[in-house]
Amino acid sequence: MTSEVVTDESTFYSRAESYWKDIPATVDGMLGGYGHISSIDVNGSKKFLQNFLGDGPDKTGIQRALDCGAGIGRITKRLLLPLFKTVDMVDVTECFLEKAQSFLGEERRRVENYFCCGLQDFNPEPNHYDVVWIQWVIGHLTDEHLAEFLKRCQKGLRPNGIIVIKDNVAYEGVILDDVDSSVCRELSVLHDVIEKAGLKIIMEEKQENFPDEIYHVYTVAMR
Ligand SMILES: C[S@@+](CC[C@H](N)C(=O)[O-])C[C@H]1O[C@@H](n2cnc3c(N)ncnc32)[C@H](O)[C@@H]1O
Repeated sequence: MTSEVVTDESTFYSRAESYWKDIPATVDGMLGGYGHISSIDVNGSKKFLQNFLGDGPDKTGIQRALDCGAGIGRITKRLLLPLFKTVDMVDVTECFLEKAQSFLGEERRRVENYFCCGLQDFNPEPNHYDVVWIQWVIGHLTDEHLAEFLKRCQKGLRPNGIIVIKDNVAYEGVILDDVDSSVCRELSVLHDVIEKAGLKIIMEEKQENFPDEIYHVYTVAMR
């Protein structure tokens, strides 16, 4: 549990905010120097999402997606805008959202909203999103805040909508990273948080072909 490693919650959040303010607004900055794995990541995500999209009564719609902890819009640009009619982005770091304007190019006109807000405070509009994509940011939330955020996201889903978490997974327990003020949870801890939020996992997959030295990365779909 995050309560075992996060002693002072407000320091945990403020240190993360300060950390990201100093990070270059580039793909490499978003990925901690691993910009070169961005294509493998996005291609894996696209394949995963395709399981839910397409024609049919139970399929997920393509009207609107929400990119959570979106940064400069790496995922919005390569994954979400090509698949959804419109996208909203939310991130706590203002300068990343500003950079998104140029990073996304012409296609930025299909980004309807840029919300500058911590996910712990963000309340998605009810019944609004087909897909809520949450990647490489849950480590910045405590277990309780993550569960509450997931509950609010569930309310934000349109019929057949899904929430997807794609993130690092620890071998054991919850590991604190003092540099960026984040935690990395083992998969069973993440499962517990999802269950606590009242959500059901409908698909889970390990991202293949990432470098050996980094954490394993899992993609989990729920609703
Ligand atoms: C590792 S980057 C990932 C960016 C993007 N998801 C991607 O994969 O390219 C983490 C992002 O989370 C944002 N972030 C950190 N803490 C946050 C919080 N509490 N709420 C919302 N965003 C946060 C940072 O500003 C940064 O853009």
